[in-house]
Amino acid sequence: MTPTSTRTTALVTGASAGLGHEFAKQLAAQGHPLVLVARSASRLEETAADLHRRYGITAEVLPADLTVDADVAAVVERLKDPARPVGILVNNAGIGLLHNFEDNPIGAEKTT
Ligand SMILES: NC(=O)c1ccc[n+]([C@@H]2O[C@H](COP(=O)([O-])OP(=O)(O)OC[C@H]3O[C@@H](n4cnc5c(N)ncnc54)[C@H](OP(=O)(O)O)[C@@H]3O)[C@@H](O)[C@H]2O)c1
Repeated sequence: MTPTSTRTTALVTGASAGLGHEFAKQLAAQGHPLVLVARSASRLEETAADLHRRYGITAEVLPADLTVDADVAAVVERLKDPARPVGILVNNAGIGLLHNFEDNPIGAEKTT
């Protein structure tokens, strides 16, 4: 396996539970440094510590509520930070409307 230091950093939203947690775990097992996003900072800290202990990767915690514009902006800023590049985005957190994305009004996307 490539040493961790040369692996691309991955940002995973909804990384503290369910599918996002599994994505984070599998990326950590491959040696990717992580940025973990969800609302609960304490659950993110637990996840980061567990993944570091199991796989030796660094996991940064970025608490954010992705229904709040300012929090989304903070995540975008982190993604754009040239000093700390992120090469993989797993934008998992969310809820699906039962239509094609392009058929949904922006209001429905923002309120669900
Ligand atoms: N599980 C399925 O069978 C299934 C099927 C189809 C699609 N999906 C989609 O896959 C995604 C994950 O589903 P899941 O079942 O794995 O969910 P889950 O087990 O409920 O986990 C949700 C994760 O997202 C975080 N989260 C929830 N609301 C958030 C918000 N407003 N801002 C930031 N983070 C938030 C949660 O942490 P906090 O609560 O701390 O924020 C948690 O880490 C969702 O988009 C879901 O619609 C799931």
